[in-house]
Amino acid sequence: MSKRQKIVILTGAGISAESGLATFRDPDGIWAKYDYNEVATPEGFEADPALVHSFYNWRRANLETVHPNPAHVALARLEEKFGAALTLVTQNVDDLHERGGSTRVIHMHGELKKARCAACGAVHRWAGDLALETRCPGCGEVGALRPHIVWFGEMPMRMDEIAVAITKADLFVSIGTSGNVCPAAGFVGEARACGVPCIELNLEPSENAWAFTVARYGRASVIVPDWVEEICAASGIPSFEENPIQNTSY
Ligand code: OAD
Repeated sequence: MSKRQKIVILTGAGISAESGLATFRDPDGIWAKYDYNEVATPEGFEADPALVHSFYNWRRANLETVHPNPAHVALARLEEKFGAALTLVTQNVDDLHERGGSTRVIHMHGELKKARCAACGAVHRWAGDLALETRCPGCGEVGALRPHIVWFGEMPMRMDEIAVAITKADLFVSIGTSGNVCPAAGFVGEARACGVPCIELNLEPSENAWAFTVARYGRASVIVPDWVEEICAASGIPSFEENPIQNTSY
């Protein structure tokens, strides 16, 4: 593959798992411990904002105890090589891509280290806790700040930009995501409809594994650096094994 070809990468919680951040749907995942209706919906925030703040305060604080792993670093190296030809989209609200060296990450589900004011609309960088008593540093309103996170029922961010990138892509790569949550789970279908080859890099087959052209399964810290090395070295599309569970009628 030449440097000029365009790659869209979608990452999910699996890429940060080996850094020590819990995934969502694994048996010991976040949604096994919390009801997402209570902590990740606008209705939940309206019903109990203190609970929602404490959930995201815990995750924001936990973020300070972890570090990027070789998968994050490898994708940053890919950005160095491919520049604007690489579009990195993540569902993750952590900042491990940035701390691994990536500079142009699209956080479609928002960012833990940002807060948004419902009164003035400003988005602020946020390192500490949020509480009902917190004052917006922009407009001074008390109690109007919320985590800059896309909750269930809300529209993910920068969707137009992502759709254009997928349409123009030469390759779509999905890393460490269960394929459970739309619209991200639909990106592979959009890419395939445009004739874009699609690769899945995951611990195990995702829910829409059948839709991918090729797949490689294993730990992200191993298979992502390997793939990046191959794609940087290769002059054509990398020669992976055929996906054994590909549905060829797709
Ligand atoms: P999930 O927890 O649903 O899926 C994580 C995926 O990562 C699974 O397919 C695992 O097999 C895989 N995985 C686990 N460890 C891995 C490793 N070491 N290497 C590679 N893969 C590994 O998380 P997401 O698909 O990211 O949204 O979840 C999508 C969205 O659902 C999240 O952004 C969040 C959640 O509800 C919101 O909160 C709005």
